[in-house]
Amino acid sequence: MDFDVEKIRRDFPALSQTLDSGRKLVYFDNAATAQKPQCVIDAVCRFYSRDNANIHRSAHELAGRATRGYEGAREKIEKFFNAPEDYCAVFTRGATESLNLVASSWGRANLKSGDEILVTKMEHHANIVPWQITAEITGAKLVAADILEDGSLDMRDFQNKLNPKTKIVSVAHASNVLGTVNDIAAIGELARENGSVFSIDAAQSAPHMLDDLSAVKCDFISLSGHKCFGPTGIGTLIGRRELLDSMPPYQGGGDMIENVSWERTTFRPAPERFEAGTPNIAGAIGFGAAIDYMAKIDKQAAHAHESALLERLTRGLEEIKGLKIFGNAKGKVAVVSFAIDGVHPNDIASLLDADGIAVRTGHHCAEPLLTMLDKFSLTRASLAFYNTEEEVDYFVKSLSRAVRLLK
Ligand code: ALA
Repeated sequence: MDFDVEKIRRDFPALSQTLDSGRKLVYFDNAATAQKPQCVIDAVCRFYSRDNANIHRSAHELAGRATRGYEGAREKIEKFFNAPEDYCAVFTRGATESLNLVASSWGRANLKSGDEILVTKMEHHANIVPWQITAEITGAKLVAADILEDGSLDMRDFQNKLNPKTKIVSVAHASNVLGTVNDIAAIGELARENGSVFSIDAAQSAPHMLDDLSAVKCDFISLSGHKCFGPTGIGTLIGRRELLDSMPPYQGGGDMIENVSWERTTFRPAPERFEAGTPNIAGAIGFGAAIDYMAKIDKQAAHAHESALLERLTRGLEEIKGLKIFGNAKGKVAVVSFAIDGVHPNDIASLLDADGIAVRTGHHCAEPLLTMLDKFSLTRASLAFYNTEEEVDYFVKSLSRAVRLLK
């Protein structure tokens, strides 16, 4: 398979840097945020140095450029994720805001006491807390399906918990801790048969370019720009237009209205309905540039490359005495969380950092999952298609040395 990782790395200026420690950067914190290719940096820079104006408002040339850039980015996103005709992409601040939009707008308008919201026990806080807030307001109940020993979803428990009271199923496509990839096609089918709305948190799966989300029957998909090699502060909610148009606005202000009077205000349809105020125009344009970049990558080759890295990393880590990996589900993405007997994750991360290696430690915004695993903190190495075998080997060597020093 022809996948020229060195060529790809040259597109990402941050990857070739030498750190203050004198070490070359090994960036294994991609599940937190991915690095940006030069084309994204250039697109944001070009917007501010040439095209900066507000969108949808003024008749001047710059406003036209800004509006075309912003709306062009929306089209790129809809096309890349193969959003069907009757779907549209609403710009948000990120996947968290997308999920909040669904929980707040759809949830408050459609849920009542006795209804149930079904999630899984591997969710990120962004797919737990908004539902808890909505449940508190509406009287609906939040229910979570169990996971199995290997970190995969317990489909039997999921099916047992799916019942006529389940009004919405909201699940992560990929877990940011376990790397598990949920079978969203099967889950979507079950949700549909049950008459439940189906929402997918694709924040962690989209950067790995897994599969065509349009093949999945769903109502909402939440995505983050910065995890897909775009800027921070931008994301999208791809949703079924009819459903979006039936939902009350999430925030009020400019751009989302049709007419305003003291007596009565009317609202525009989606996507503008949910884009009150001046949006993150530069962010959207940068996100569009990231999508252009991702569209040029050979998805299958990138996937094969990442899978090979994951296998190499897993094999390397298994050699370290006392190390336990959490999440071994078949087909997982290259996200590896682990604990080492008698060693604090922060100490590991500090020693890795001294070697130039960036990882994340802590509860990874998934406290209920970590509590279930009986851990307060895990060390997580999360990879992207621009990581290399040499980096994996260097990481395993550095970690082995750190463990010897700390034990
Ligand atoms: N959700 C991001 C992570 O898993 C921030 O690190």
